[in-house]
Amino acid sequence: MQAFVVTGGTRLEGRVTVPGAKNSVLKLMAASLLAVGRTRLTHVPDILDVSIMAELLRRLGCIVEYDAVASVLVVDVPEELGHQADYDLVRRMRASIAVLGPLVSRVGLADVALPGGDAIGSRGLDMHVGGLTRMGAEFTSEHGFLTASAPGGLTGAQIWLDFPSVGATENILMAAVLAKGRTVIDNAAREPEIVDLCEMLQQMGAGIEGVGSSTLAIEGVEQLAPVEHATVPDRIVAGTWATMAAITGGDITVDYAHTKHLEIALDKLVTAGAMIEATATGFRTSMQGRPRAVDVVTLPYPGFPTDLQPQFIALNSVAEGVSMVTENLFEARFRFVQELTRLGADVHTDGHHAFIKGRRRLSGAPVEATDVRAGVGLVLAGLVAEGQTTVIDVHHIDRGYADFTELLTSLGGEIERVDVPSRG
Ligand code: UD1
Repeated sequence: MQAFVVTGGTRLEGRVTVPGAKNSVLKLMAASLLAVGRTRLTHVPDILDVSIMAELLRRLGCIVEYDAVASVLVVDVPEELGHQADYDLVRRMRASIAVLGPLVSRVGLADVALPGGDAIGSRGLDMHVGGLTRMGAEFTSEHGFLTASAPGGLTGAQIWLDFPSVGATENILMAAVLAKGRTVIDNAAREPEIVDLCEMLQQMGAGIEGVGSSTLAIEGVEQLAPVEHATVPDRIVAGTWATMAAITGGDITVDYAHTKHLEIALDKLVTAGAMIEATATGFRTSMQGRPRAVDVVTLPYPGFPTDLQPQFIALNSVAEGVSMVTENLFEARFRFVQELTRLGADVHTDGHHAFIKGRRRLSGAPVEATDVRAGVGLVLAGLVAEGQTTVIDVHHIDRGYADFTELLTSLGGEIERVDVPSRG
């Protein structure tokens, strides 16, 4: 097992380029299944989840080539596709479920192992299943697999989501583009990653209206053509670097980033005392002195992203004042708080609220990353803790952050990747 050893007390300063978004590229890769031929994706991050999705596509019969230096991934999709996503891959990455919609619409059959992935609470599939069922798919669940079949093809339908689920919106959208007739998704999620997926599908020839709004209207077409597409910048990685600048009293410029995708989070950093300055290709975050505490409430986009919640709890744990962070998406994301308190943070949780009393100092200790964002949240805390913080289970961080230790070191951080004995 690998761990990061972080030595606290350094100020981060410099420039980093943000890769394409993990949460977009995995879906763009799934969307490539919708067209026979070579799809070329650029700005593809060199992260574990991309390799897992590449393996999944290979097992479905695709040829996948990745050039990590150029950040380019090519998927060559055959005429005849397989239909099974195995447990060994789905277990490692819940986003594997994104192949469900494309497979059922192109092949008429999908066998997807029931997901595991991040240990961040119960993440149902009811809206994925409900939406595709309305379009004519039939579902059964046996031996740990979810099977969807639609031998006669899917038909457009009117679908209302109970909640703007990112994954359900994407699966229904990818099924609808090849369905017969018109599908309308109401209360659709409108994250920048969904806009990115819509734009790629439009380039491929899909008929989609309402992109970026909470009502998507999709007119099904007979077939789609493969395209070249640049992945949208990873707003969560950009927001993580900005929070690192704020917590260490540093100065970091991020390139390949859109401030408009991070409006609330950057506004919160300004309230905490940071200076944010837009640049031609991204933005700069600088901070002097101790941060001020900020309240945060996570919500679907354009609300504050749950994927930046642990980073902001870390920031608040050393800020001046008290704060409340409310998590509305994934209840188990507060598991990270237990680890943070091992570093001396004063945080109490009650249901989906965390109450944080900022302390001047944290003190380094061994802690465990419970998921990708919790992992970086702990690294942030380690950067301002006295002495050494050892974060174990860092494969979670590798799932979402490319070249993490190298980039942190280039900014002046003290971090080392080490092998540690695995538990039991
Ligand atoms: C995606 C992101 C994740 C991010 C989340 C919210 C990827 C790979 N992951 O996850 O990083 O934190 O969006 O921005 O893109 N739910 C149901 N039934 C469903 C679907 C979802 O109850 O059918 C619930 C989930 O349990 C969860 C909430 O809805 O509590 C949000 O889930 P969703 O928006 O679907 O997130 P993901 O697509 O899983």
